[in-house]
Amino acid sequence: MPTKDLTSQRKIEHVNIVLQKPVQFTQKTTGFEEMEVEYLTLPEIDAGKIDTRTTFLKHAFSFPFMVSSMTGGHEKTTIINRQIAQACEEVGIGMGLGSTRAAIENKKTMASFDVRKYAPNIFLACNIGVSNLKKYSSKQLQKLVDDLQCDAMIVHSNSAQEIVQHEGTPQFSDCLKEIGRVARELEVPVYVKEVGNGISPTNVKQLDKLPIAAIDVAGAGGTSWTAIESKRGTMDNKELGEKFWNVGIPTVPAVIGAKRYSKKPIIASGGVRSGQDVLKAMVLGASMSAAAIPIILAQDNGGAQKIVSHLEKLQREFRAGMFLAGAKNVSALHGKKYYLFGKTKEWVEQL
Ligand SMILES: Cc1cc2nc3c(=O)[nH]c(=O)nc-3n(C[C@H](O)[C@H](O)[C@H](O)COP(=O)(O)O)c2cc1C
Repeated sequence: MPTKDLTSQRKIEHVNIVLQKPVQFTQKTTGFEEMEVEYLTLPEIDAGKIDTRTTFLKHAFSFPFMVSSMTGGHEKTTIINRQIAQACEEVGIGMGLGSTRAAIENKKTMASFDVRKYAPNIFLACNIGVSNLKKYSSKQLQKLVDDLQCDAMIVHSNSAQEIVQHEGTPQFSDCLKEIGRVARELEVPVYVKEVGNGISPTNVKQLDKLPIAAIDVAGAGGTSWTAIESKRGTMDNKELGEKFWNVGIPTVPAVIGAKRYSKKPIIASGGVRSGQDVLKAMVLGASMSAAAIPIILAQDNGGAQKIVSHLEKLQREFRAGMFLAGAKNVSALHGKKYYLFGKTKEWVEQL
């Protein structure tokens, strides 16, 4: 099969596996369950006056949450992206498109990413894999951003996934240089994101020196891409994927490390499953939070309306959490007192 068709085929296989098989971490959690925000019986605010809105990369969000990059590149993914975009527009949050490499390789797949008409006002980001950056000129990437009317370019870094993936591209030399080039040359903000194995302090320090706009830690504890890739390809991929199923830095220590070693805005993602998780991410100093798998499951279960219900539930929980923490707006959450326990505390002590 030509590369363009292989990429397209892989995209639909990923979606099918995610919808049909258990692919989350089994021996590691995000750490949100080992974090408690101080509870206030006298929050000294009125719940009705709480403001959940925020801005991220100069865009307005109804609360600090966006849908993580997922799919596109196969005709069957068109409806998924369209309904996610419609839901994001209705709720007033942002969306990352799945890797738009497919659209460069095969123009016919462009329609599956083309959601701007369904979501004219949202923050919308393109997405490209770091190990493929070398192949593309900044002009090609800018054209993609322009054609899809995106507001930012996400560069995803996924060494664990690439080393397990049957047809992976684990060629990661000069990636930092390539990220720097793209960040300097594109006309929109460029930021770096993991895919669920987390960004550790060593890499945060390196990324902090580049002209990128933000870092999405996409930590361990949610979806495991080594698990997904272990379910594709040969017996060797299966074995390797099972061995590395739980690799990476969990989301809570990843966010704390990123805040400690970088001044860039941080996105907390990887296993964000409730409004309380969003709240905890903000208390840790993240500027945004995001999730993937719960959104595609909601879409599969009932389209845009089901996604909207899920997002509204997150926002309700987030608002209640803000009340109990005594925060009348999102910035008031940063620096609120919290407690860490168990393994998460041990991670943080060693960052
Ligand atoms: C079906 C699916 C496809 C994905 N494709 C991409 C992708 O193309 N680019 C990317 O940066 N991340 C991709 N991801 C990773 C997510 O953006 C996210 O980082 C990861 O799933 C962890 O978040 P979660 O635990 O909330 O699912 C994908 C996730 C899913 C579930």
